Amino acid sequence: METATSTNNGSKRQLDLTHFSFEVDDYGVATILMDVKGEKMNTLSPNIQEDLDKILEVIEGDGTIGAVVIGSAKSSGFMAGADIDMLEDVSSAAQGAELSRHGQSGFARLEAIHKSLGKPVIAAIHGPALGGGLEMALACSSRICSDSEKTVLGLPEVMLGVIPGAGGTQRLPRLVGIAPALDMILTGRNIRPPRARKMGLVDEVVPEAILLDVARKRARDTSSGKAKPPKRGLARLQELAKEISDPQYLQQLALEENPVGLKILFKKAREQLLEKTRGNYPAPERALEVVRIGIKDGIEAGYAAEADRFGHLLVSPEAQALISIYFATQELKKDNGTDNPDVEPRPVKKVAVLGGGLMGGGVAAVSATKAGTPVRIKDIDDAGVARGLSYVRKVLDQNVKRRRMKRAEADRVMHLVTGTTDWTGFKSTDIVIEAVFEDLDLKHNVLKASEKAGRPDTIFASNTSSLPITEIAKASEHPETVIGMHYFSPVEKMPLLEIIVTDKTADWVTATCVDYGKKQGKTVIVVQDGTGFYTSRILAPYLNEAAWLLSEGAAIEDLDEAMMDWGFPVGPIVLLDEVGIDVGQKVGAIMQEAFGDRLQAPGLMDALIEDGRKGRKSEKGFYRYEKGKKAGVDHSVYDILGQNRERVSFPKEEIQQRLGLSMINEAAHCLEEGILRSARDGDIGAIFGLGFPPFRGGPFTWVDRVGANEIVRRLERYQDRHGKRFEPAPILREHAKEGKKFRQ
Ligand code: NAI
Repeated sequence: METATSTNNGSKRQLDLTHFSFEVDDYGVATILMDVKGEKMNTLSPNIQEDLDKILEVIEGDGTIGAVVIGSAKSSGFMAGADIDMLEDVSSAAQGAELSRHGQSGFARLEAIHKSLGKPVIAAIHGPALGGGLEMALACSSRICSDSEKTVLGLPEVMLGVIPGAGGTQRLPRLVGIAPALDMILTGRNIRPPRARKMGLVDEVVPEAILLDVARKRARDTSSGKAKPPKRGLARLQELAKEISDPQYLQQLALEENPVGLKILFKKAREQLLEKTRGNYPAPERALEVVRIGIKDGIEAGYAAEADRFGHLLVSPEAQALISIYFATQELKKDNGTDNPDVEPRPVKKVAVLGGGLMGGGVAAVSATKAGTPVRIKDIDDAGVARGLSYVRKVLDQNVKRRRMKRAEADRVMHLVTGTTDWTGFKSTDIVIEAVFEDLDLKHNVLKASEKAGRPDTIFASNTSSLPITEIAKASEHPETVIGMHYFSPVEKMPLLEIIVTDKTADWVTATCVDYGKKQGKTVIVVQDGTGFYTSRILAPYLNEAAWLLSEGAAIEDLDEAMMDWGFPVGPIVLLDEVGIDVGQKVGAIMQEAFGDRLQAPGLMDALIEDGRKGRKSEKGFYRYEKGKKAGVDHSVYDILGQNRERVSFPKEEIQQRLGLSMINEAAHCLEEGILRSARDGDIGAIFGLGFPPFRGGPFTWVDRVGANEIVRRLERYQDRHGKRFEPAPILREHAKEGKKFRQ
């Protein structure tokens, strides 16, 4: 319990605070530091607001307090947003709206300190100020942030299927202008200090070491009238447009100053939004509506709409799915990947990457930049090593360009990466991650050489996309150290790491790789070895089904459009072109051999490969490529396939059901066979590895939502028409019969 003192009309007053410290200096500047008890990061909940109310009561009544600074006592940051556990407990739209109104009134009281009582309130932000954290800062009269790389500002609520509910949708547009506010609210994008300063989200950016001192000085100066409060919104824009006549500000002004301009702005924003979400995500649509109501009908109407829509969204199936993904990733962060929670990961002080190609380069990049470990890239020749090194350099340069990293830091990280064409330095290597060509004999050779050069406890992790790890491990002297670490391309961007264990993989090896994968910034799932592991295995029938539809006469663009409408980021045929038609065919054949009828493909790919069509990499596939860019569908592909260019029109729903069900059914098989440790992992793997629509929550959450009964019924209907490949997985039938759910 924090006890704090303040003077109130000359008398001392004691404050019992749990989550804040509060002190007033000799100049009458109160400093409030948030330090939410029992949490690493400050989050917003009604308990915190209780404390804040106590403090505000003192500030309101104490004439000796002339100004306020709000910061954080935690080094982790300002405030990460609302406490999401609290959101999960809400069971009705009315309850959700009430929660929002509670947040709104708390911050209205904070705002009144400067608006009604004239006491400046300055937010001193270091580290993340997200969601409710930024909303609190928006209710202050001014914001100063540190220039640290840790400092980010944003309203990520739409990512959880809701909208800012504590006044953010109303205060942000009035501070920075409507277009930049919509950009932040509709995308959930994080803003870094330099941009925050430029757009007027913060008034000053200073080094962390002097943040509080500067904030206190500004508070004092504003309170004494020595400094003027910074201009906001349109007034600021008008001033900027006059001063620097930047066309960007002029254009923004032109739109935001008059009703016709505003109409155009909102119309364009809605069109752009729908193009992106295809109507699958209600939250950004509601956010847009609420901002508009606030601008058109006034701020009180805006607040009322914000609370109402927040409540409805919070209990929507989309928000429930997105929140469950959030919780699943939080759980995975604590999971060591084995069934024994006591297994400890061993330290990883150095890694080696075999093969400096596309994947090896990417793995080296995340190992050095994210995990901060020394990496040795080994390739067969200098050119291969150079390729790997330049990949890492490219990733670092991008980080510098996007201001995620300073140049000096990038140079320091680059020094962690060395190259070799021999096996020197492998004795001190804890994990060897191989990303050489996809060839079993080659993998055996490098494994044997690596074991000779390393220690008996050096982990050998393969990034193979299709070879069973058990097969690879057959060449090993100590198969307990052999594991699969399946990354996705491009490694530095894709969030998932699929770790594959065999019957022989030791638990400490799994725990060490899981821990290291997290340090590389990945969400990690652990699956049992088996052909196609999990992600490639569920992708195969999905792509096969697209090929079956193609063979039945469906048009390429219809297939891609239908699945993008369903919520995938790219369509199946574009994906085939991206992965490589030759790779798809190779993996498809392996799957068919392992799983028989269910994974049977219509065999269209041979003709395409014979024609030299490998997809994007050969600039020739289902689509045309012009100067490396994807152009329209290459209709000559139908000639190669011996098909009619006149296509058959399939109902969108049929395409979506056939492809979606194929993936879901295979995921159910994976759970049943023990490839997956849990339905949770299956949901996360499909979403983060393959782009399964997040608002559906993953294959298992989707089955729960539609009902296993209905899923089985649909599968059986397609089974009648298309045969065995739609035969429902027994576990689906069982869930249908017993009315069970996969996820609770
Ligand atoms: P790549 O062809 O870009 O790179 C392979 C690299 O390995 C080349 O630089 C080559 O010189 C080097 N290499 C060959 N033999 C070697 C040896 N004996 N010692 C050291 N280096 C050697 O291939 P990519 O795409 O990076 O794939 C590598 C592995 O990752 C494959 O097993 C592939 O199946 C897997 N994978 C690929 C994905 C992709 O999207 N490309 C995704 C997931 C896994």
